[in-house]
Amino acid sequence: MSDYEALWSAIPYPAFAIGPDNRVQTCNSAAESFARTSLKQMQARDFSYFVGQNSAVTDLLEQARAGGSSVVLHDIEVPWGDLPPRLNNLHASALGGGAVLLLLHPRGLAEKMDRSLTHRSAARSVTGMAAMLAHEIRNPLAGINGAAQLLAMNADPDDRELTELIQDEIKRIGDLVARVEQFGDLRPATRSAVNIHDILDRSKRAAQAGFATHARFIEEYDPSLPPVSGNADQLIQVFLNLFKNAAEAIPEVGGTITGRTAFRPGVRLQVSGQKPESLPLEVTVSDNGIGIPKNILNDVFDPFVSSKAAGTGLGLSLVSKIIVDHGGVVECDSRPGRTTFKVLLPIWRDSGPAEG
Ligand SMILES: Nc1ncnc2c1ncn2[C@@H]1O[C@H](COP(=O)(O)OP(=O)(O)OP(=O)(O)O)[C@@H](O)[C@H]1O
Ligand SMILES: [Mg+2]
Repeated sequence: MSDYEALWSAIPYPAFAIGPDNRVQTCNSAAESFARTSLKQMQARDFSYFVGQNSAVTDLLEQARAGGSSVVLHDIEVPWGDLPPRLNNLHASALGGGAVLLLLHPRGLAEKMDRSLTHRSAARSVTGMAAMLAHEIRNPLAGINGAAQLLAMNADPDDRELTELIQDEIKRIGDLVARVEQFGDLRPATRSAVNIHDILDRSKRAAQAGFATHARFIEEYDPSLPPVSGNADQLIQVFLNLFKNAAEAIPEVGGTITGRTAFRPGVRLQVSGQKPESLPLEVTVSDNGIGIPKNILNDVFDPFVSSKAAGTGLGLSLVSKIIVDHGGVVECDSRPGRTTFKVLLPIWRDSGPAEG
Protein backbone atom coordinates (compact mmCIF):
# COMPACT_ATOMS: atom_id res chain seq x y z
CA MET A 1 0.00 0.00 0.00
CA SER A 2 2.75 2.48 0.91
CA ASP A 3 4.29 1.78 -2.48
CA TYR A 4 1.12 3.05 -4.08
CA GLU A 5 1.07 6.07 -1.83
CA ALA A 6 4.62 6.91 -2.89
CA LEU A 7 3.61 6.47 -6.51
CA TRP A 8 0.59 8.66 -6.02
CA SER A 9 2.49 11.49 -4.40
CA ALA A 10 5.27 11.21 -6.99
CA ILE A 11 2.89 12.33 -9.76
CA PRO A 12 4.07 15.89 -10.34
CA TYR A 13 0.66 17.08 -11.58
CA PRO A 14 -2.61 17.47 -9.73
CA ALA A 15 -4.32 14.05 -9.53
CA PHE A 16 -7.76 13.40 -7.99
CA ALA A 17 -9.63 10.15 -7.45
CA ILE A 18 -13.32 11.10 -7.54
CA GLY A 19 -15.95 8.71 -6.22
CA PRO A 20 -19.33 7.78 -7.71
CA ASP A 21 -20.91 10.37 -5.39
CA ASN A 22 -18.75 12.99 -7.16
CA ARG A 23 -16.69 13.64 -4.03
CA VAL A 24 -12.93 13.50 -3.91
CA GLN A 25 -11.84 10.19 -2.40
CA THR A 26 -8.19 11.05 -2.38
CA CYS A 27 -5.72 13.35 -4.12
CA ASN A 28 -2.00 13.97 -4.22
CA SER A 29 -0.17 16.95 -2.78
CA ALA A 30 0.11 18.63 -6.21
CA ALA A 31 -3.69 18.60 -6.26
CA GLU A 32 -3.86 20.18 -2.82
CA SER A 33 -1.57 22.99 -3.89
CA PHE A 34 -3.53 23.42 -7.13
CA ALA A 35 -6.75 23.69 -5.11
CA ARG A 36 -5.10 25.75 -2.36
CA THR A 37 -7.04 23.64 0.10
CA SER A 38 -6.66 20.35 1.94
CA LEU A 39 -7.98 16.96 0.93
CA LYS A 40 -10.27 17.08 3.94
CA GLN A 41 -11.88 20.30 2.76
CA MET A 42 -12.36 18.82 -0.69
CA GLN A 43 -13.93 15.66 0.66
CA ALA A 44 -16.60 17.71 2.39
CA ARG A 45 -18.23 18.84 -0.86
CA ASP A 46 -19.41 17.74 -4.27
CA PHE A 47 -16.62 18.23 -6.85
CA SER A 48 -18.81 20.54 -8.91
CA TYR A 49 -18.82 22.95 -5.98
CA PHE A 50 -15.18 23.70 -6.87
CA VAL A 51 -15.17 23.46 -10.66
CA GLY A 52 -18.72 24.67 -11.37
CA GLN A 53 -21.96 22.84 -12.18
CA ASN A 54 -21.81 22.72 -15.95
CA SER A 55 -18.14 23.15 -16.52
CA ALA A 56 -16.02 21.26 -19.02
CA VAL A 57 -14.52 19.39 -16.08
CA THR A 58 -17.82 17.99 -14.80
CA ASP A 59 -18.77 17.05 -18.36
CA LEU A 60 -15.49 15.24 -18.74
CA LEU A 61 -16.03 13.26 -15.53
CA GLU A 62 -19.49 12.24 -16.73
CA GLN A 63 -18.11 11.19 -20.10
CA ALA A 64 -15.42 9.06 -18.49
CA ARG A 65 -17.99 7.42 -16.18
CA ALA A 66 -20.48 6.81 -18.97
CA GLY A 67 -17.94 5.42 -21.41
CA GLY A 68 -15.99 3.49 -18.79
CA SER A 69 -12.83 4.66 -20.48
CA SER A 70 -10.28 7.46 -20.78
CA VAL A 71 -11.12 10.90 -22.10
CA VAL A 72 -8.65 13.67 -22.83
CA LEU A 73 -9.36 17.38 -23.29
CA HIS A 74 -6.76 19.93 -24.33
CA ASP A 75 -6.42 23.59 -23.40
CA ILE A 76 -9.22 23.84 -20.90
CA GLU A 77 -9.52 26.83 -18.57
CA VAL A 78 -10.11 25.05 -15.28
CA PRO A 79 -11.98 27.18 -12.75
CA TRP A 80 -11.52 26.50 -9.06
CA GLY A 81 -13.62 28.38 -6.53
CA ASP A 82 -12.60 32.01 -6.54
CA LEU A 83 -9.21 31.39 -8.15
CA PRO A 84 -8.63 32.65 -11.66
CA PRO A 85 -9.11 29.81 -14.21
CA ARG A 86 -5.88 28.05 -15.19
CA LEU A 87 -5.10 26.51 -18.55
CA ASN A 88 -4.71 22.72 -18.38
CA ASN A 89 -4.87 19.57 -20.41
CA LEU A 90 -7.30 17.20 -18.68
CA HIS A 91 -7.23 13.43 -18.56
CA ALA A 92 -10.07 11.45 -16.97
CA SER A 93 -10.05 7.66 -16.65
CA ALA A 94 -12.83 5.47 -15.29
CA LEU A 95 -11.62 3.44 -12.30
CA GLY A 96 -14.67 1.17 -12.14
CA GLY A 97 -17.67 1.42 -9.81
CA GLY A 98 -18.34 4.98 -10.96
CA ALA A 99 -15.02 6.31 -9.67
CA VAL A 100 -12.83 8.43 -11.94
CA LEU A 101 -9.17 9.38 -11.94
CA LEU A 102 -8.72 13.01 -13.00
CA LEU A 103 -5.26 14.28 -13.99
CA LEU A 104 -4.50 17.92 -14.74
CA HIS A 105 -1.52 18.83 -16.84
CA PRO A 106 -0.75 22.53 -16.47
CA ARG A 107 -0.19 24.12 -19.86
CA GLY A 108 1.85 27.10 -18.73
CA LEU A 109 4.99 25.30 -17.61
CA ALA A 110 5.34 23.02 -20.60
CA GLU A 111 4.85 25.91 -22.97
CA LYS A 112 7.23 28.21 -21.19
CA MET A 113 9.92 25.56 -21.19
CA ASP A 114 9.33 25.03 -24.84
CA ARG A 115 9.66 28.73 -25.49
CA SER A 116 12.77 28.93 -23.38
CA LEU A 117 14.33 26.16 -25.45
CA THR A 118 13.71 27.87 -28.74
CA HIS A 119 15.83 30.77 -27.46
CA ARG A 120 18.74 28.39 -27.43
CA SER A 121 18.92 28.60 -31.17
CA ALA A 122 18.05 32.32 -31.38
CA ALA A 123 20.95 33.16 -29.11
CA ARG A 124 23.26 30.87 -31.06
CA SER A 125 22.56 32.64 -34.32
CA VAL A 126 23.67 35.88 -32.68
CA THR A 127 26.93 34.23 -31.65
CA GLY A 128 27.85 33.58 -35.25
CA MET A 129 26.97 37.11 -36.27
CA ALA A 130 28.97 38.64 -33.44
CA ALA A 131 32.42 37.83 -34.75
CA MET A 132 31.52 39.06 -38.24
CA LEU A 133 30.03 42.31 -36.93
CA ALA A 134 32.94 43.08 -34.67
CA HIS A 135 35.42 42.59 -37.48
CA GLU A 136 33.51 44.34 -40.23
CA ILE A 137 32.38 47.35 -38.21
CA ARG A 138 35.21 48.03 -35.78
CA ASN A 139 37.89 48.95 -38.34
CA PRO A 140 35.94 51.36 -40.53
CA LEU A 141 34.44 52.84 -37.39
CA ALA A 142 37.91 53.64 -36.05
CA GLY A 143 38.68 55.33 -39.37
CA ILE A 144 35.51 57.45 -39.25
CA ASN A 145 36.24 58.39 -35.67
CA GLY A 146 39.76 59.54 -36.52
CA ALA A 147 38.50 61.62 -39.41
CA ALA A 148 35.80 63.22 -37.25
CA GLN A 149 38.42 64.15 -34.67
CA LEU A 150 40.56 65.82 -37.34
CA LEU A 151 37.58 67.74 -38.68
CA ALA A 152 36.63 68.84 -35.17
CA MET A 153 40.03 70.42 -34.61
CA ASN A 154 39.63 72.91 -37.46
CA ALA A 155 35.88 73.34 -37.44
CA ASP A 156 34.01 76.53 -36.59
CA PRO A 157 31.42 76.25 -33.74
CA ASP A 158 28.49 75.44 -36.06
CA ASP A 159 30.35 72.63 -37.73
CA ARG A 160 31.73 71.40 -34.41
CA GLU A 161 28.16 70.59 -33.37
CA LEU A 162 27.99 68.27 -36.35
CA THR A 163 31.34 66.60 -35.66
CA GLU A 164 30.25 66.03 -32.04
CA LEU A 165 27.07 64.43 -33.32
CA ILE A 166 29.17 62.14 -35.52
CA GLN A 167 31.35 61.19 -32.58
CA ASP A 168 28.37 60.53 -30.30
CA GLU A 169 26.83 58.27 -32.87
CA ILE A 170 30.14 56.48 -33.43
CA LYS A 171 30.25 55.80 -29.71
CA ARG A 172 26.73 54.40 -29.84
CA ILE A 173 27.65 52.03 -32.64
CA GLY A 174 30.83 51.07 -30.78
CA ASP A 175 28.82 50.23 -27.65
CA LEU A 176 26.40 48.16 -29.68
CA VAL A 177 29.23 46.23 -31.28
CA ALA A 178 30.76 45.64 -27.85
CA ARG A 179 27.46 44.22 -26.58
CA VAL A 180 27.01 41.98 -29.58
CA GLU A 181 30.59 40.85 -29.15
CA GLN A 182 29.80 39.55 -25.69
CA PHE A 183 27.93 36.72 -27.39
CA GLY A 184 31.00 35.70 -29.32
CA ASP A 185 33.02 35.85 -26.12
CA LEU A 186 30.97 33.28 -24.34
CA ARG A 187 33.23 30.33 -24.92
CA PRO A 188 32.50 27.47 -22.57
CA ALA A 189 33.62 29.11 -19.36
CA THR A 190 35.12 27.39 -16.36
CA ARG A 191 32.58 26.29 -13.82
CA SER A 192 32.95 26.14 -10.10
CA ALA A 193 30.84 25.99 -6.98
CA VAL A 194 29.25 29.43 -6.89
CA ASN A 195 27.28 30.90 -4.01
CA ILE A 196 24.30 32.46 -5.75
CA HIS A 197 23.67 34.89 -2.88
CA ASP A 198 27.15 36.25 -3.38
CA ILE A 199 26.36 36.80 -7.05
CA LEU A 200 23.07 38.50 -6.23
CA ASP A 201 24.75 40.70 -3.65
CA ARG A 202 27.53 41.81 -5.99
CA SER A 203 25.05 42.49 -8.79
CA LYS A 204 22.81 44.43 -6.42
CA ARG A 205 25.66 46.60 -5.18
CA ALA A 206 26.77 47.41 -8.70
CA ALA A 207 23.15 48.23 -9.62
CA GLN A 208 22.69 50.47 -6.59
CA ALA A 209 25.85 52.38 -7.41
CA GLY A 210 24.75 52.94 -10.99
CA PHE A 211 21.46 52.53 -12.75
CA ALA A 212 19.24 51.53 -9.81
CA THR A 213 19.74 54.31 -7.27
CA HIS A 214 15.98 54.87 -7.20
CA ALA A 215 15.09 51.23 -6.48
CA ARG A 216 14.43 49.61 -3.13
CA PHE A 217 15.83 46.08 -3.08
CA ILE A 218 14.00 43.38 -1.16
CA GLU A 219 15.90 40.16 -0.51
CA GLU A 220 14.06 36.97 0.34
CA TYR A 221 16.81 34.42 0.32
CA ASP A 222 16.88 30.83 1.47
CA PRO A 223 20.25 30.76 3.26
CA SER A 224 20.47 26.97 3.15
CA LEU A 225 20.71 26.93 -0.65
CA PRO A 226 23.54 24.73 -1.96
CA PRO A 227 26.06 26.20 -4.42
CA VAL A 228 25.23 26.43 -8.10
CA SER A 229 27.46 24.99 -10.79
CA GLY A 230 28.37 28.09 -12.71
CA ASN A 231 30.64 30.86 -13.87
CA ALA A 232 30.53 33.81 -11.48
CA ASP A 233 31.27 36.54 -14.05
CA GLN A 234 28.62 35.33 -16.43
CA LEU A 235 26.02 34.92 -13.69
CA ILE A 236 26.69 38.47 -12.52
CA GLN A 237 25.99 39.63 -16.07
CA VAL A 238 22.68 37.78 -15.94
CA PHE A 239 21.49 39.46 -12.77
CA LEU A 240 22.86 42.87 -13.75
CA ASN A 241 20.76 42.68 -16.90
CA LEU A 242 17.64 41.57 -14.99
CA PHE A 243 18.15 44.31 -12.37
CA LYS A 244 18.75 46.89 -15.09
CA ASN A 245 15.53 46.03 -16.91
CA ALA A 246 13.66 46.11 -13.60
CA ALA A 247 15.18 49.48 -12.72
CA GLU A 248 14.15 50.84 -16.10
CA ALA A 249 10.56 49.62 -15.63
CA ILE A 250 9.83 50.84 -12.11
CA PRO A 251 8.64 54.30 -11.13
CA GLU A 252 11.08 56.89 -9.74
CA VAL A 253 9.30 56.71 -6.42
CA GLY A 254 8.09 53.51 -4.77
CA GLY A 255 9.86 51.14 -7.15
CA THR A 256 10.97 47.81 -5.71
CA ILE A 257 13.12 45.00 -7.04
CA THR A 258 12.70 41.70 -5.21
CA GLY A 259 15.23 38.88 -5.35
CA ARG A 260 14.06 35.51 -4.10
CA THR A 261 15.83 32.17 -3.91
CA ALA A 262 14.38 28.75 -3.19
CA PHE A 263 15.32 25.10 -3.36
CA ARG A 264 12.90 23.07 -5.47
CA PRO A 265 13.97 19.47 -5.65
CA GLY A 266 12.26 17.52 -8.39
CA VAL A 267 12.37 20.18 -11.10
CA ARG A 268 13.91 18.55 -14.13
CA LEU A 269 14.30 19.48 -17.72
CA GLN A 270 14.52 16.96 -20.50
CA VAL A 271 15.79 18.13 -23.83
CA SER A 272 15.31 15.56 -26.53
CA GLY A 273 18.39 13.43 -27.02
CA GLN A 274 20.02 14.61 -23.80
CA LYS A 275 20.12 13.43 -20.23
CA PRO A 276 17.45 14.96 -18.01
CA GLU A 277 18.89 17.88 -16.10
CA SER A 278 17.99 18.47 -12.50
CA LEU A 279 17.40 22.16 -11.85
CA PRO A 280 16.54 22.56 -8.20
CA LEU A 281 17.90 26.08 -7.65
CA GLU A 282 15.31 28.76 -8.32
CA VAL A 283 16.15 32.45 -8.40
CA THR A 284 13.46 34.97 -9.19
CA VAL A 285 13.78 38.69 -9.84
CA SER A 286 10.52 40.64 -9.64
CA ASP A 287 9.67 44.28 -9.95
CA ASN A 288 6.56 46.39 -9.53
CA GLY A 289 7.04 48.31 -12.76
CA ILE A 290 4.99 48.89 -15.87
CA GLY A 291 5.25 45.33 -17.15
CA ILE A 292 6.44 43.98 -20.49
CA PRO A 293 4.40 45.36 -23.41
CA LYS A 294 1.93 42.65 -24.50
CA ASN A 295 3.04 42.66 -28.12
CA ILE A 296 6.59 41.58 -27.27
CA LEU A 297 5.89 39.37 -24.24
CA ASN A 298 6.47 36.17 -26.20
CA ASP A 299 9.66 37.42 -27.86
CA VAL A 300 11.54 39.23 -25.12
CA PHE A 301 14.37 36.68 -25.13
CA ASP A 302 14.95 37.08 -28.85
CA PRO A 303 17.81 39.34 -29.90
CA PHE A 304 17.00 42.92 -30.93
CA VAL A 305 13.52 42.91 -29.39
CA SER A 306 13.17 46.13 -27.43
CA SER A 307 10.55 48.69 -26.49
CA LYS A 308 13.12 51.29 -25.49
CA ALA A 309 14.28 54.17 -27.65
CA ALA A 310 17.93 53.50 -26.84
CA GLY A 311 17.64 49.78 -26.13
CA THR A 312 19.64 47.21 -28.09
CA GLY A 313 17.29 44.37 -27.15
CA LEU A 314 20.30 42.22 -26.40
CA GLY A 315 20.07 42.17 -22.59
CA LEU A 316 17.60 39.30 -22.23
CA SER A 317 19.04 37.46 -25.18
CA LEU A 318 22.38 37.40 -23.38
CA VAL A 319 20.64 36.31 -20.17
CA SER A 320 18.99 33.45 -22.03
CA LYS A 321 22.23 32.39 -23.69
CA ILE A 322 24.21 32.33 -20.45
CA ILE A 323 21.52 30.45 -18.54
CA VAL A 324 21.05 27.92 -21.33
CA ASP A 325 24.85 27.43 -21.49
CA HIS A 326 24.66 26.68 -17.78
CA GLY A 327 22.13 23.97 -18.51
CA GLY A 328 19.39 26.05 -16.92
CA VAL A 329 16.10 27.62 -17.90
CA VAL A 330 14.83 31.18 -17.74
CA GLU A 331 11.22 32.19 -18.13
CA CYS A 332 9.17 35.28 -17.50
CA ASP A 333 5.76 36.24 -16.40
CA SER A 334 4.51 39.81 -16.64
CA ARG A 335 1.51 42.02 -16.14
CA PRO A 336 1.36 45.71 -15.32
CA GLY A 337 2.65 46.14 -11.78
CA ARG A 338 4.35 42.76 -11.53
CA THR A 339 7.07 41.31 -13.72
CA THR A 340 8.95 38.19 -12.66
CA PHE A 341 11.92 36.48 -14.26
CA LYS A 342 12.53 32.97 -12.98
CA VAL A 343 15.91 31.31 -13.42
CA LEU A 344 16.37 27.58 -12.72
CA LEU A 345 19.92 26.31 -12.31
CA PRO A 346 21.73 23.05 -11.63
CA ILE A 347 23.37 22.36 -8.30
CA TRP A 348 27.16 21.91 -7.87
CA ARG A 349 28.38 18.44 -6.95
CA ASP A 350 31.94 17.73 -5.80
CA SER A 351 32.44 15.47 -8.75
CA GLY A 352 31.38 18.26 -11.12
CA PRO A 353 28.01 19.51 -12.25
CA ALA A 354 25.05 17.39 -11.20
CA GLU A 355 24.11 14.80 -13.71
CA GLY A 356 20.87 13.37 -12.62
N1 LIG B 1 11.41 43.98 -15.88
C1 LIG B 1 10.84 44.39 -17.02
N2 LIG B 1 9.72 45.15 -16.98
C2 LIG B 1 9.14 45.58 -18.13
N3 LIG B 1 9.60 45.29 -19.36
C3 LIG B 1 10.71 44.56 -19.46
C4 LIG B 1 11.39 44.07 -18.30
N4 LIG B 1 12.44 43.34 -18.72
C5 LIG B 1 12.43 43.38 -20.06
N5 LIG B 1 11.40 44.13 -20.52
C6 LIG B 1 11.04 44.37 -21.92
O1 LIG B 1 11.79 43.49 -22.73
C7 LIG B 1 12.51 44.22 -23.71
C8 LIG B 1 13.81 43.51 -24.00
O2 LIG B 1 14.70 43.61 -22.90
P1 LIG B 1 16.26 43.52 -23.16
O3 LIG B 1 16.96 43.65 -21.86
O4 LIG B 1 16.55 42.33 -23.98
O5 LIG B 1 16.56 44.79 -24.07
P2 LIG B 1 16.49 46.33 -23.68
O6 LIG B 1 16.44 46.47 -22.18
O7 LIG B 1 15.40 46.95 -24.46
O8 LIG B 1 17.88 46.87 -24.24
P3 LIG B 1 19.28 46.80 -23.48
O9 LIG B 1 19.25 45.65 -22.54
O10 LIG B 1 20.26 46.69 -24.55
O11 LIG B 1 19.39 48.11 -22.74
C9 LIG B 1 12.65 45.60 -23.12
O12 LIG B 1 12.81 46.58 -24.12
C10 LIG B 1 11.35 45.78 -22.36
O13 LIG B 1 10.31 46.17 -23.23
MG1 LIG C 1 17.87 45.41 -20.96
